[in-house]
Parts: sequence; C-alpha cells; structure tokens
Amino acid sequence: MKLIAAKDYDQMSQIAARYFAAQVLLKPTSVFGFATGSTPIGLYKELIRKNAEGKITFKYAHTVNLDEYYGMPRDHEQSYYSFMHANLFDHIDIDPANTRLPNGMAEDADAECRAYDEHIASLGGVDMQLLGIGHDGHIGFNEPSDHFSLGTNCVTLTEMTIEANKRFFASANDVPRKALTMGMREIMQAKKIVMVVNGKDKAQILYDSFCGPITPAVPASILQLHPDVTLVADEAALSVMKEHCKCCKCCK
Ligand code: GLP
Repeated sequence: MKLIAAKDYDQMSQIAARYFAAQVLLKPTSVFGFATGSTPIGLYKELIRKNAEGKITFKYAHTVNLDEYYGMPRDHEQSYYSFMHANLFDHIDIDPANTRLPNGMAEDADAECRAYDEHIASLGGVDMQLLGIGHDGHIGFNEPSDHFSLGTNCVTLTEMTIEANKRFFASANDVPRKALTMGMREIMQAKKIVMVVNGKDKAQILYDSFCGPITPAVPASILQLHPDVTLVADEAALSVMKEHCKCCKCCK
C-alpha cells in the first residue's frame, strides 16, 4: 500500500483527484469504479473543475458504481444514482449511457447482481476503483461478515451503517435496510485502487484495516493483499496509524 498523508480534507481531495485525472489522460477509455458517501464529494468537485477547464475529458470513459440501496427508486434524492448525477455525472462530459449503477428496483436481486458482474466483465474490469470506508470497515456495502463476498450481492446493512447514514434521511427508520453491492472479487480485481479517508472518527478503523489481521470481520483489511492500493488520508484519519502501526514504515 502506498500512503499519502494530506493535511486536511481539501488537500486529500486534490491529491486523490490527480490520480483519476492522470488515469483518464493516460487511458481515455478507462473504466472507473466510483463510490458514494460524503468523502469523495471534494474529489468529484476537483474532477468537475479539471473537466470544465478542458484538462481532462470523460467522453470515452465508462463508470460502474460500487453500490445502490435496494428498493429505492433511482429518482429518490438519496439514491446513489441521484447522488452520482448530482455530484459528478451531470457536470462532466461523460456519456450517461457509459455510466452504470446496480438497479435498486430490480425485482430479481440475484439476476441483477449477475448482470452487473457480467457488465463489469464485458468492460474488461475496472481500471481504477475509488473507495471510501465505513466506520465498521465496510467497502461498498460489504459489511463485516465471517467470509469475504465474491460477486455483486444483496446485503443487509448493519445497525452501525444505518446509524451513520441516517444523517441523509429524515430518521434512521427511513434508511433502507438492504443494498446491492459489488463484491470483494470485482473490487480486488480492479487494476488500481485509490481509497480516500478523512476525519478522526475513521482513525481506528483505518488502523484496523491496514495494520491489523486480514479478516472478513474488517472487510477493508483484504486491501492489504491488493498490489496497487493508494491510500490518501488526512492527518486526523491517520492519527492512530501514526501512533501505533508496527507492521511497516509507510505511515511514519
Ligand atoms: C456508504 C457507502 C460507502 C462509503 C461509506 C462511508 O456506506 N456505501 O461506499 O465508503 O458510506 O461514507 P462517508 O464517506 O460518508 O463516511
């Protein structure tokens, strides 16, 4: 894992955005794996700015998203479909036909998951995958478990995730209980992974993920096995790693 320490959220977003800008410059037909959550919003703003300035184009790029709430219509303001359009797709020159998220309204969730994996495979896999991290170590919506999931699957969200995501809804009761998420196989098969993390509230799980044992109880810990992960994190998120990591010198 390559670690880049940023002083704050804005610097984290600028640095991480450079990776995505470089990727699309070097390979205009790149397949990007995109993520939702509050953390990537600054990075998306940077990509929008670079695109508006004519420095990069997404005309030939494809995107797949990590996840979508299950049972939520696309036009719901909290759907990840709406999120991606509001925070990125509607403001860059990407062809909307080249963007895809799991269909949260699919009647047959298993069939939708299989179709999603086939779509990713038909694109040749993901060139660069963006990840955030949940407080319980989830990536996408792959929650702590006794095994690592393979393909895209339908998951039940943990109470911790529902608690964390209720800020976007009127109450915790309104947070969907299920989601469709890319599995660990597609995430781990991405050629490059860039993870963005900020804030002290993520410091312990970041330490557990990158300095602790590899276990499905901490889903992000599997990233220790990926050959090309770049972690861009701010000082607050790195505070526990900096103090306690004994496994390597990368965060010192
Ligand atoms: C959701 C998303 C994840 C994201 C996580 C953290 O659960 N499914 O992809 O990483 O939230 O979100 P935030 O960046 O708002 O902390």
